[in-house]
Amino acid sequence: MIITIDGPAGSGKSTAARKLAARLEIPYLDTGAMYRALAYAALQRGVDFERSDSLAELARSVRLEVDCGPTHTRVRVDGHDVSEALRDPKVSEVTPFVARVQAIRDMLVLRQRQIGAELGSLVTEGRDQGSVVFPYADVKFVLDASVQKRAERRVQELVADGHDVSLQSVMQNLTTRDGIDSRQWAPLLPEGVAIIIDTTEMKLSDVVERLEKEVRARVSANSP
Ligand code: C5P
Repeated sequence: MIITIDGPAGSGKSTAARKLAARLEIPYLDTGAMYRALAYAALQRGVDFERSDSLAELARSVRLEVDCGPTHTRVRVDGHDVSEALRDPKVSEVTPFVARVQAIRDMLVLRQRQIGAELGSLVTEGRDQGSVVFPYADVKFVLDASVQKRAERRVQELVADGHDVSLQSVMQNLTTRDGIDSRQWAPLLPEGVAIIIDTTEMKLSDVVERLEKEVRARVSANSP
């Protein structure tokens, strides 16, 4: 079973996807971590983020390993586990520049499909999972929330990780990212094709409840 959860940063999709995967006991794939890992490698090597060809070249030369379990996605770059470093605001800031390079998207879309084929069942989250990567997914969700709420959630996460950030700087980062990401957002799914949930006023535990309910309802409707 493939379940896709798409939405912008701070919509709650990462936590919700991870928790849903744990409840369903199937692997969880954080596709943002794959784009972030390449951005991290580009930062390390001092690649110019304005140069699509250099970024694509880097992506081809990096050994990217992705390990998915029901509670985690861990990513290794050239043998080093970089999973913790990927949440750094500096990485968040430059990742959309990597994600807008079509050659990189093509490469990662292929990898994501391979992971889905190998594992068989997956809760996968990102921007394009239900629209581009897994158009035949069994259940598709889109999560969204107001910019204010998304920024508040991101600040909480970053502060918990020991970063010193202001609400204003995070809001600024989200708004800029939304602008660059909107290209990837173009195929965002409409209500009916996907289940769209506005999480602004919801507790994350209620979001997970709702996702699980929707998935289980579909599974029982489809079983003989
Ligand atoms: O989801 P997360 O905030 O970790 O994603 C980081 C960045 O990776 C996004 O801002 C976007 O630029 C890119 N991304 C993407 N397509 C995906 C997942 C992430 O373009 N499927």
